This record gives sequence, C-alpha cells and structure tokens, in this order.
Amino acid sequence: MNTITQILENNRAWAQNIQKESPDFFTQLSKQQTPEILWIGCADSRVPPNQIVNLGPGELFVHRNIANMVVHSDLNCLSVMQYAIEVLKVKHVVVCGHYGCGGVKASQDKQDHGLIDNWLRHIQDVSRIHAAELETFDDSDKKLARLCELNVIEQVTNVCQSPIVQQAWKSGAELSVHGLIYSLQNGVLHDLNVTHSSPESLEK
Ligand code: CO
Repeated sequence: MNTITQILENNRAWAQNIQKESPDFFTQLSKQQTPEILWIGCADSRVPPNQIVNLGPGELFVHRNIANMVVHSDLNCLSVMQYAIEVLKVKHVVVCGHYGCGGVKASQDKQDHGLIDNWLRHIQDVSRIHAAELETFDDSDKKLARLCELNVIEQVTNVCQSPIVQQAWKSGAELSVHGLIYSLQNGVLHDLNVTHSSPESLEK
C-alpha cells in the first residue's frame, strides 16, 4: 500500500474511533475552537505537539518552524501569535524546543546549507549573545544541548517583547509565556523556568 493510501486509511480508522467514543465530538468541534495554549515548536517530526502532551484536536493552537524561532519580522509567526492572543484569547504561549535539534546543530557547523542559512543566522545570534557561557563547555554535545535551551529562552523573550504580547499585557489580559524543552531520548518535557506573565517579570 502506498503512503498516501495508508494515511487515508489511518485517518478513517481514527475518525471512526473518536466518533464511536463521543458521537458529537466533531459536530461540537466544528462550531468553534477554544484552545488555551499557543504552541510554538520545532518542525522536527519527532516532536509532535498534541501527542507529547496528550491533548486532542481543538486544544492546542500550533505554529512550527525550523528550530522553534520567533523572529521579529516573521509575518507568519506573528500572524499566528496575533490571532491566538487577540482572537482566540489563549492564556498560555509555550515555546518548546528540543535537545538534538538539527537546526541548532546546523547553525554551528560552518557548512553551507543554502537558503536555510539565512534562517539559521538567528540561532547564530543566540550563540553570539551567550558566547561567554557557551565557551565554558568542553563537551560539544553538552554545549549544543545548552544552546538548544538558550535558544528557547531567547525565543521566549522575543515572544514577550512582541507588540502583540506587550499590548495584551497592557490591556490586562491573563497571559503567560513559557519555555519548555523536550528530550528525544526519553520523551520527557522540562520546564526551563522562564515563565513571564507581565512586563515587570520580563524586566527582572
Ligand atoms: Co529541531
């Protein structure tokens, strides 16, 4: 069976299964979505957002790109953020990175990767900002793991500094921004404890 036939078949079985368990699931969900979380994650196929946090359709609003970046001029990501925060009124924004991120790794290997190098430059900015800390690592795997964490932390700051989040906080919206990192080795998510819920906490 070819791949597409297979996924269509998987889909039929999945939809039937859900309908069997809760017959009005799709009817209800088709009327509106009310996710409480905006998830910004890496496009990596090994980090499927809904699956790793065991949430169903309608529960996560998702944006993914290479290396879970929030770039101030990226209209795609900013549009997702604006819609999620202003229209859906999510209460949480999660930036989720992962150890062993190919994008983070490629940003450090000094090889030519073509177009994607323009995107990866943003991670090089992160490594430059944190050069002093990163230089203390002798072990290159540990250094890369730390850069994956630092990248999440920087993207959390970028989310918080965006006019969308600043405006939401100014208008009194209940909104927290979190940084998490996922381990491909054991499937466990770790909180990087960089949660911000106000401009004041960001300044600290
Ligand atoms: Co990745």
